[in-house]
Amino acid sequence: MATTSSIDARIKAAPAAELCSSELTWDPWVYDAPPDTPRLPIYGAGASQWDVTPASAPVQTEIPERYRGMSAPEIERRIAVAKATLGSRLVILGHHYQRDEVIRWADFRGDSFKLSQQAAGRGEADFIVFCGVHFMAESADILASDHQRVILPNLAAGCSMADMADEAQVLSCWKQLGGAIGVGPSAVIPVTYMNSSAALKAFCGERGGVVCTSSNAARVLEWAFERGERVLFFPDEHLGRNTGVKLGVPDDEMVLWDPRRRLGGHPVDALRRARLILWRGWCSVHARFTVAQIERARSEYPGINVIVHPECRRDVVEAADLDGSTELILETISSAPPGSRWAVGTEINMVNRLAAEHPDKVIFCLDPVICPCSTMYRIHPGYLAWVLEALVEGQVLNEIVVADRVKAAARVALDRMLSLPGRAGQPVTARAPR
Ligand code: 13P
Ligand code: SF4
Repeated sequence: MATTSSIDARIKAAPAAELCSSELTWDPWVYDAPPDTPRLPIYGAGASQWDVTPASAPVQTEIPERYRGMSAPEIERRIAVAKATLGSRLVILGHHYQRDEVIRWADFRGDSFKLSQQAAGRGEADFIVFCGVHFMAESADILASDHQRVILPNLAAGCSMADMADEAQVLSCWKQLGGAIGVGPSAVIPVTYMNSSAALKAFCGERGGVVCTSSNAARVLEWAFERGERVLFFPDEHLGRNTGVKLGVPDDEMVLWDPRRRLGGHPVDALRRARLILWRGWCSVHARFTVAQIERARSEYPGINVIVHPECRRDVVEAADLDGSTELILETISSAPPGSRWAVGTEINMVNRLAAEHPDKVIFCLDPVICPCSTMYRIHPGYLAWVLEALVEGQVLNEIVVADRVKAAARVALDRMLSLPGRAGQPVTARAPR
């Protein structure tokens, strides 16, 4: 695999103005709690660092000093030895946003949908080490066999968007909707984005609802509209709105539910008229992309293809040529002809890697500033070495365990998604790349 100079090296070499935060130059463990010292959770440096971290978010305790002081080649050697020792007992799954030094160890890479299929299909491995974020590891635990143990190398690798909807808020919304418009079996179908806690997936499973990912949101919403008059979609308002637009839901039939306001901030009439009730939540990585960036890319590179993730705002998705999941972005650019040019609206680690792997194409991130997803970025190779070496010694660290009752109901919602026929997803406005 071709690699870029590591994200760390790029960060160290970049002038301050090209970093979204000077904290990106800090060691990742500065955010961890010293043993026996309580510490509030924090996302860490990067795009979500200024988002509000719920007090209930997991906190990572400092890993042993020897890993913090280790050189990169020594960490690499230790990971290689531990992985080889564990052999087929271990499977490492890696999301596309992981840094190069971590993703290179993944047996399977993918978007949330593909990785959930991998987690469901690797029954022979005893240990699933998930190099991604908390909700992905939870989904793996829900889909894995009983004997499999799922490990997240850094417990603080959450998702700031997933944290924008908690169970209490969604239960309150459901109750309020029930009072205002009724939530009988076909009145409102709850749909949760994969980027949500297991508790919210269970909420959907118990109420005739379903999970979706960015690769199948349109198909899942169609499924939901076939079963109910309205959809309550959480926690990403942008994916929900972009998908509603693709399905032709008129603007005045989409409302934004603000969990901090009574009835989400709407009169009962507006809720009755709504077909799509969107939750006020967003991804701070994708909120950075703007139409002005797209205009600049088009003026500097006439004829360039612009491809973005559907977590971007509606105006950005509409100004782009294509939108889709990380896997779709990867497949589209990888299969494009040599010489084609791509401005990409998604996380920097993935875009840098695509650029390094396809030197025959022009590929760059729409955002000129280096700003990784702060939670994905918490998975540094030191944490991977730590959990793998512990497994070799017979110790399971950082295990993600979803309670049985939650697991069963969440599985219903995930299985509804996984059983939908066809391929994972199609771009909205596909056209031949130039
Ligand atoms: P994908 O399913 O497209 O990989 O998206 C997951 C994610 O968290 C994007 O921000
Ligand atoms: Fe969550 Fe955004 Fe990071 Fe994806 S990129 S894991 S949505 S914070």
